[in-house]
Amino acid sequence: MKTVQFNNTVLRDGHQSLAATRMTTAQMLPAAPILDGMGFAGLETWGGATVDSCLRFLGENPFDRLRALKKAAPQTPQIMLLRGQNIVQYTSFPDDVVEAFIRADAAAGQDIFRIFDALNDTRNLITAIKTVKACGKHARGEICYTTSPVHTVEAFVKMGIELRAMGCDSIGIKDMSGVIAPRVAYDMVAQLRQRVGLPITLHTHDTAGLGASSYLAAIDAGVDIVETSIAPFANGTAQPDTLRMLALLEGHPRCPSYDREKLAQLREYFTGVYKELGKFTSPDNERVDSDTLIYQVPGGMLSNFRNQLKEQNMADKFEQVMSEIFHVREALGWIPLVTPTSQIVGTQAMMNVKFGRWKTIAPAAADIALNKYGRPPGTVSAELIKLIFDRTGQKPVEGRNADALPPRMPKLREELAAKNLPTDDEACVLHAMFPQEFAKLHAPKVAAPATPVVVASPPAAAAAPAPASHAAAPTGPGKRYRLTVAGQTTEALVEELN
Ligand code: CO
Repeated sequence: MKTVQFNNTVLRDGHQSLAATRMTTAQMLPAAPILDGMGFAGLETWGGATVDSCLRFLGENPFDRLRALKKAAPQTPQIMLLRGQNIVQYTSFPDDVVEAFIRADAAAGQDIFRIFDALNDTRNLITAIKTVKACGKHARGEICYTTSPVHTVEAFVKMGIELRAMGCDSIGIKDMSGVIAPRVAYDMVAQLRQRVGLPITLHTHDTAGLGASSYLAAIDAGVDIVETSIAPFANGTAQPDTLRMLALLEGHPRCPSYDREKLAQLREYFTGVYKELGKFTSPDNERVDSDTLIYQVPGGMLSNFRNQLKEQNMADKFEQVMSEIFHVREALGWIPLVTPTSQIVGTQAMMNVKFGRWKTIAPAAADIALNKYGRPPGTVSAELIKLIFDRTGQKPVEGRNADALPPRMPKLREELAAKNLPTDDEACVLHAMFPQEFAKLHAPKVAAPATPVVVASPPAAAAAPAPASHAAAPTGPGKRYRLTVAGQTTEALVEELN
């Protein structure tokens, strides 16, 4: 078997998982040429929560970030994480907005699109896959891994076969919670190789301490690529560190050779950045969290819930809320816990404990039950469907949600023109997803902490980069969601899990 390859995630999932997605473009650029010279199969730099964070917290245009990184690291394919029909938001967008987004992103330099749907409903992936292929780019169809009575290796392999038929260039196993066991990773990779035949990438998190072992097992089974990061933006809730993974593979026939001296330099550089982002980091995210195995929910969700329950004076209800998550998941057809479903399930579980089971139903939870996010993998509780009907008169919808959404691009352009804002596709898609934040980006700069995107001349590849010289944007981590149902307001402080 060939040498295994690594993708590097430090510029996206590494800081999303450990520093609330706050790494700025200026902090990335000094490292970009060195990362580019490593020979990684890909650099994950974009998508997930980065677009939101650029606009909301960093005062950056996310497309400018991509162009700057592309210029600073031109040799290595750049990867983005795309939430299918939700693009990089929480709800479905019409096909014309999804298409415009992908075209704009491809034009800005994106090479590989990791495309997933939180419910593994492939109808929510088809527009994205088709458009990526039409742009001549690489479509990596992602299978969201989770554990439940309906999530079997066989079901995941069937999804892989479907993704191949839809035109994907490769298959990704996306273990956002870091709960895939080494033996399961081995079986899934072996089966997918045999029955799908496309290149396979495994993406996991080291939250529960399984990540590196699961990579090793997947490598034994023939996985083509695994995704690692650079410490200190590695391990814990992020991907295993590259140097650590290389040490684990020492003497393995598939061990790749990546320059360890340069890796040490990158580590030194990112240690400086990690310190600069100190107010967004937490030891809770850095340690192995076996609670995630006990409760079978993502680590990031656990840490957020501890905070949220404290705020709600419900800290003593932690165990109850955690076991309620099981009930809510089951009632909603065993949906995987990943953005946005992790937030919705968690909030509903909290409301069930606070107000009584299903006494208050979060609109988003009702929408999942009514198939508005797609087809849940299992059967939605008939009792819950009846409750929603009795209270709201709504029935489950059939068909693909986006089919019911009229095209929006012309309207988006008009809205922007009326505000004297740019009206190109990039502007339209950002305005569609983040209207206030996008407008703020173009507002006269007063106190905005806009970070100038400076494409530094690449430092000599061997030279240790200088630490970035500015401080992090002064904003609190996490996001607050307010759900008001029947006059009762519940807030959820959530973190995005990807
Ligand atoms: Co991830």
